[in-house]
Amino acid sequence: MKHLLKFIAPLCLSAVFAGDSMAAETEPDRDYIYVPSEEVRQSQKEFASDRFGIFIHWGIYSMFGQGEWYLNYGPDAREYAKAARGFYPADFNAAEWVDAIKDSGARYVTFTSRHHDGFSMFDTAQSDYDIVDATPFNRDVLKELADECHKKDISLHLYYSHLDWTRPDYPQGRTGHTTGRDSTVNDWNSYYKFMNAQLTELLTNYGPVRAIWFDGWWDHDEDKVPFDWQLRDQYAMIHSLQPSCMVANNHHQTPYPGEDIQIFERDLPGENTAGLSGQDVSRLPLETCNTMNGMWGYKVVDTNYKDTPTLIRYLVKAAGMGANLLLNIGPQPNGELPATALQRLRDIGKWMRIYGETIYGTEAGPFPPQPWGSATQKDKTLYVHVTSAPSSDILLPADLKVKSAVAFVDRTPVRFSKSKEGVALHLDKVPDDVDYVIELKLK
Ligand code: GLC
Repeated sequence: MKHLLKFIAPLCLSAVFAGDSMAAETEPDRDYIYVPSEEVRQSQKEFASDRFGIFIHWGIYSMFGQGEWYLNYGPDAREYAKAARGFYPADFNAAEWVDAIKDSGARYVTFTSRHHDGFSMFDTAQSDYDIVDATPFNRDVLKELADECHKKDISLHLYYSHLDWTRPDYPQGRTGHTTGRDSTVNDWNSYYKFMNAQLTELLTNYGPVRAIWFDGWWDHDEDKVPFDWQLRDQYAMIHSLQPSCMVANNHHQTPYPGEDIQIFERDLPGENTAGLSGQDVSRLPLETCNTMNGMWGYKVVDTNYKDTPTLIRYLVKAAGMGANLLLNIGPQPNGELPATALQRLRDIGKWMRIYGETIYGTEAGPFPPQPWGSATQKDKTLYVHVTSAPSSDILLPADLKVKSAVAFVDRTPVRFSKSKEGVALHLDKVPDDVDYVIELKLK
């Protein structure tokens, strides 16, 4: 099978891996060939063209102000659950969220429908541990958010945790050991049914969902016998409920058949500074998720936000590598987005209104990121993004036939010359902009 896959791989564009490291044949869920539907291909195209999305981590964990992993660090799940009766995000306003997100230039939102703590942020009939039944707030925040997204043409993606630190039927993995449950008892069939019933609700009651974004697979990555998540059937169910819905899984592995996006956590594709990546980069549309500060869920002491130039440069670098940036915000327990996050959204938006053309709908440039910056490309137009130039001469290490070169903002001509190393751009001064963009027309 392994050899057959390698042979067929170059033929079925979206489901293949660029690298050579296939997983062991015994690993469940890998051993079949998946060909994405026309509808999925269309979503993949739109997704890749969007380049910028906002991640939202919001749940009852936000109340503790210690990030979304709080339950993993000590509380008994029954004590923790009591927070639900106090969850009343009085200032939640989905229209304000979506306006701020849209204004930043982001084109999609990925919302945590249910995180590892097991609390559902939507009205589910599969459990009472949800935003409508367990809190005095009594509003389906996902419904409100979904309606606003659809109204304002922001695509909706839903994060869904495969693992659960609260439910007794979830077969416990390597996390969530202090929540007070009996780790020897579980019922996978019941849990699998529960997840699929919830996914069915998510894909039935909230209008078009462009992607389901799974997380938590890695909870069983140290099992002696490979854990069978039964992804194949679950993915097929998703694709049949909404044929244009893509599947993504933050498992930190090369993609499995049935997945339509490849995700990288806290690192750009091919990089591994955070220790969660390093997997081969596939030919699927790519997405890097990262935080604005340090944590995903609201953390009261975590005020160390990356500055706007850093965030813009990260987005530019991602685009230069052919990847989307999914930038996270952890809303406060009162339902508002933190003021600093709102400020970052506004500032990125100002930049995107001028430079969006060099980001949206582009592909990776013809060379990898360089110490001075990177490039994005749209047909015969190359956008050279100079984000940290050491000098006024910029070498593009590629054999390019350049027709013209101008500064993107004011169209002033830029001198260029060709050598065997590539094309050199000769700027009048060392640029110190957040991103100095030069537009090249290629022959
Ligand atoms: C990790 C964390 C999780 C977070 C996710 C976002 O997998 O477990 O809390 O939601 O990364 O990428």
